[in-house]
Amino acid sequence: MERLLIVDDSEDIRKQMKWGLAKDYDVSLAANREEAVAFVRKHRPRVVTLDLGLPPDADGTSEGFHTLEEILRLEPTTKVIVVTGNDERESALRAVRTGAYDFYRKPIEIAELKVVIGRAFHIQAIEVENRRLQLAVENKTSQFGGIIGQCPQMEQVFATIKKVASTDVPVFVTGESGTGKELVAKAIHTLSLRKERPFIPINCGAIPENLLEPELFGHEKGAFTGAHVRSQGKVEYAHHGTLFLDEIGELPLGLQVKLLRFLQEKVIQRVGGREDISVDARVVSATNVDIAKAIQEGSFREDLFYRTAVITIHLPPLRERGNDILLLANLFLRRFSEGHNKKIKGFAPATIEQLLNFDWPGNVRELENRVQRAVIMGDAPFLEPSDLGFDGESVVTATAPAIMTLKEARDSVELDLISNVLREQGGNIAKASQVLGVSRPTLYDLMKKHGME
Ligand SMILES: Nc1ncnc2c1ncn2[C@@H]1O[C@H](COP(=O)(O)OP(=O)(O)OP(=O)(O)O)[C@@H](O)[C@H]1O
Ligand SMILES: [Mg+2]
Repeated sequence: MERLLIVDDSEDIRKQMKWGLAKDYDVSLAANREEAVAFVRKHRPRVVTLDLGLPPDADGTSEGFHTLEEILRLEPTTKVIVVTGNDERESALRAVRTGAYDFYRKPIEIAELKVVIGRAFHIQAIEVENRRLQLAVENKTSQFGGIIGQCPQMEQVFATIKKVASTDVPVFVTGESGTGKELVAKAIHTLSLRKERPFIPINCGAIPENLLEPELFGHEKGAFTGAHVRSQGKVEYAHHGTLFLDEIGELPLGLQVKLLRFLQEKVIQRVGGREDISVDARVVSATNVDIAKAIQEGSFREDLFYRTAVITIHLPPLRERGNDILLLANLFLRRFSEGHNKKIKGFAPATIEQLLNFDWPGNVRELENRVQRAVIMGDAPFLEPSDLGFDGESVVTATAPAIMTLKEARDSVELDLISNVLREQGGNIAKASQVLGVSRPTLYDLMKKHGME
């Protein structure tokens, strides 16, 4: 029989409830906070009924609330049904906000209370089972560098990663922004024989063209003004490891030719150098632009595409991943609650519906950000739609077509960020470049690009 704890300071009520419920449950009784907490610590009951008016505050609710909080702290999965007086609606609602599963108003009607208790056991079992499944999925996918997913499209992604990881085949990862392309690139590296060697990412879209070439291929001393010493490029650093060419769709045409030569002949030349240097690097590329269109428009070389995309992995947008959305939402909720020391238990039913129906233009990254914000700002045990920034209206505006292109958006964010940091640092370029994580010449170039003094 299931164990049920009844907490009430009135002996009559305890007797009455035990008598009414003993046929269905293994009933234990507690008359005050100490007894209740001691029992929970020892037996971890799945369901508890709790009278809020406990001594020394039998006419108030303070002791009841303390008891509720302690029980939940000890055993967060326990369902506590708060039993209140008829005129204590406010306390009842407050108890639910504190984390009680439900409330029941006196006078007690055993048959009715039995239904509430039965449902609490049922929900508790479902929650524990969900949690077990969640942990199982997280365990399974932890071998893929923490990529979470259970939907058929993601299963396909995992299967492909597994097959290609141990080879040196170039892989091309596509998918909207925030779908996890970098995570996939890292997983391919981690599962490969090169895992002890470097994983070198380079963002081809973030660096101005004249700096990108030495960044990729290195330069000889004196190759250009400022090249005081010879320097290795990212490609060379990736020797025996993996080179991750992020945003490869943004690679300028001139560099596409040079990259192609490297892919075909496995050699590079530093800027200003004549010597061929052999490099053995596995290449993984990623883009969120429509590469077929870029090829048609002539901004991306077809021959480079075939060289880099021997295998293509497409990451589906989050909105097409069904229940994975909840799996990810719960993962982020747990991760951030722990990080911020908050006791948030889950998402309210209305929130779950919104999560599943939202368009997720920023995909997993957006989900991660919204959950993080909700954990920091929210204080209800179950996050409401508004905690995640869903107020009916925002869902509509967020799904409206983009009013600027990605490039425009990026430029505008870049401009804002640079001018803010420069202002903060009192115009000190050295400090600003440090804060922004770019080199000084890069910062100068970016400022020039945006027409800043
Ligand atoms: N399936 C997943 N499981 C767990 N975390 C994920 C998953 N997919 C993405 N993330 C997280 O979402 C964020 C965005 O992922 P990532 O940077 O790999 O996306 P991306 O496709 O490279 O985006 P962009 O095109 O904007 O560069 C990261 O914090 C990543 O850890
Ligand atoms: Mg990325």
